[in-house]
Amino acid sequence: MPKLNRPKDAKNLVEKEITHTPQVEVSGNGDGYRVTITVGKIKHGMEPNHFIEYIELYDDETFVARADIGPSTLPVASFWLKAMPEKPVAHARCTTHGEWSNA
Ligand SMILES: [Fe+2]
Repeated sequence: MPKLNRPKDAKNLVEKEITHTPQVEVSGNGDGYRVTITVGKIKHGMEPNHFIEYIELYDDETFVARADIGPSTLPVASFWLKAMPEKPVAHARCTTHGEWSNA
């Protein structure tokens, strides 16, 4: 299994953590819950030879959803859920710097 990178201190991101740590935002509209995941506190670049190739959402360790993306997109994915996740955890994979999680 590939190494999963996690921020050492989520409140004080440093170096590659700043552009690779997924940021999770949850909102609701009465019909469901929207979870938006943006890769990077400063968005990761999306260049042809270096980009985010997928974004996944877990509820703690249970898989919920995945978006495969490419260099013509922003490093962002939104998922509409029927129920609020208890512990939303995001993973994102960079083609150059590996897999990253917010938790
Ligand atoms: Fe990267």
